[in-house]
Amino acid sequence: MATSVQNRLHPSLANAVSRCRRAFLLVGIFSGLINVLALTGAIYMLQLYDRVIPSHSTPTLIALTIIMVVLYAGYGLLDYARTRMMTGIGMRIERTLRDDIHAAVLLLPLRSRTAGDGLLPVRDLDQIRSFLSGPGPTALFDLPWLPFYLALVFMLHPWLGAVGTAGAVVLLALTMLTEIRSRKLASDAVKSGTERQATAAGQHRNAETIRALGMTGRVNLLWARLSEAHLADQARASEMVALYGTISKVIRFVLQSAVLGLGAWLVIQGQATGGIMIAASIMISRALAPVEIAIANWRGFVSARQSAARLSAVLHSLPQAADVTTLPKPTAKLAVSDLWVAAPGEAKPILQGVAFELAAGDGLGIIGVSASGKSTLTRALVGAWTPMRGTVRIDDATLDQWPPDELGAHVGYLAQEVELLEGTVAQNIARFDPEAPDEWIVGAARPAGVHEMILHLPEGYETRVSDRGTGLSAGQRQCIALARALFGDPFLVVLDEPNSNLDADGDAALSRAIQSVRQRRGIVVVVAHRPSALAGLDKVLVLAGGRVQAFGNKDEVLRQATKPPPAAAAASGSRLTVITDN
Ligand SMILES: Nc1ncnc2c1ncn2[C@@H]1O[C@H](COP(=O)(O)OP(=O)(O)O)[C@@H](O)[C@H]1O
Ligand SMILES: [Mg+2]
Repeated sequence: MATSVQNRLHPSLANAVSRCRRAFLLVGIFSGLINVLALTGAIYMLQLYDRVIPSHSTPTLIALTIIMVVLYAGYGLLDYARTRMMTGIGMRIERTLRDDIHAAVLLLPLRSRTAGDGLLPVRDLDQIRSFLSGPGPTALFDLPWLPFYLALVFMLHPWLGAVGTAGAVVLLALTMLTEIRSRKLASDAVKSGTERQATAAGQHRNAETIRALGMTGRVNLLWARLSEAHLADQARASEMVALYGTISKVIRFVLQSAVLGLGAWLVIQGQATGGIMIAASIMISRALAPVEIAIANWRGFVSARQSAARLSAVLHSLPQAADVTTLPKPTAKLAVSDLWVAAPGEAKPILQGVAFELAAGDGLGIIGVSASGKSTLTRALVGAWTPMRGTVRIDDATLDQWPPDELGAHVGYLAQEVELLEGTVAQNIARFDPEAPDEWIVGAARPAGVHEMILHLPEGYETRVSDRGTGLSAGQRQCIALARALFGDPFLVVLDEPNSNLDADGDAALSRAIQSVRQRRGIVVVVAHRPSALAGLDKVLVLAGGRVQAFGNKDEVLRQATKPPPAAAAASGSRLTVITDN
């Protein structure tokens, strides 16, 4: 599968490259001029030996020297411009792709199991850009000029050309060898690097636990082992570059001198002049120099290609952005039918055949033991996870009929593990809408019971928080996230264990918030671990093992659930504990 994807460059990647076609063409033309101008040294030398020295003409020498300086200056300008153009191409490709790649980074964890920290696509794009602005690509542009130089040397003398060609063949074979060996080395290094990165990030997130439980030494060993593996991969790659790089350099030096030697012999035989001897040596050296640079940078070339293939695969896995019609603001109901949901990239369903319906103004409590699928259901309700089968409909439209960012405006969601985003408290509550009216922000903070708390923060609503909520307690974070869920009065508000970190005041504020959503004819769904959190709700759904065990009016369901279970259902007595513990 990997190869078929590799062979098929994703259209937006191909498009990004083809948008640079003119720039690439210019680089090609510049490379041609550069390679012609690079002959300056050889021709100058030829003229000195064969014209200036025999004729003892100082004016000729001065004229030739002026021409030589001008030509080399032109060479320098073109070379500089070419490198800058390649940097520009890299930046353009990055700009063209970065939105798609960013979208992919945010979507992939919802669709599949992602390796490492999930940021490999971003690093891949970096890899391509930095390769393009390095010395590698220009060497690749110079490589095709090798036959041109060899032809010139042939014109100087066939034997000299033959020796040069033999050397070039050896060096090109070396390049192919580098190519073959680099492929595996480069992908190994990416794999071990990703693993190392993910481990470091995870340990960093858990610094407190690691310290408290005395695991520093052990996780350190783990890190050292992964680092060692990554270093070994890197070392193997550098070793290969060093070996082949040195061989190519030695071959070039030997060849350069061998051509001199052969030239000298030809001079002795009266078949060539001293100028030809020196010029041929310079040309051979110049012809083979790009091969050396190419070998030295081949790893970057292979890595960039592998990055492009991975990006292509990632982009292929993104759904085509369909033209979705904007739907009216929902007002009536939420209907779930025969809903089967698995975790991203998993085949085993967590939820099996969940079905229920809520109308505007309803408040549903979802209860069930740990791992019964409550959080999974909330993720499906807000469209974060895609159902394997069945539908979630808001006002008769399935969630995927809404453009995702528009659906978001009608949805409030508080995840079980609260994370804020890097930014101010106000930005977080306003979901980073730069045009959010301040009344809306305060209007969301008040019912969440955090307005006063926020005012007491060092900079009030402008206090900066990090994604891990630095400077805030878990309860404060939860309340701010609740305000974010309520922001903009969304039709459907889904709260996953919103009171897990709340005190009595917080609990009271939460029930008021729930009431206010219901009063304005929204729908609120609350995952509750404690029955006390059911205050303010009128319906209850009991989940067990991913299936609906009971659904209906709160009082009725609770009454049934607290009745002694029939002998046959005694095994599911756990639901009793869920509902009666307090
Ligand atoms: N990202 C995930 N990948 C794989 N399995 C998951 C994932 N999230 C949850 N699960 C599994 O789904 C089941 C239900 O989890 P969850 O919905 O979080 O339960 P609850 O919220 O009721 O405690 C658990 O068995 C859990 O292991
Ligand atoms: Mg949960």
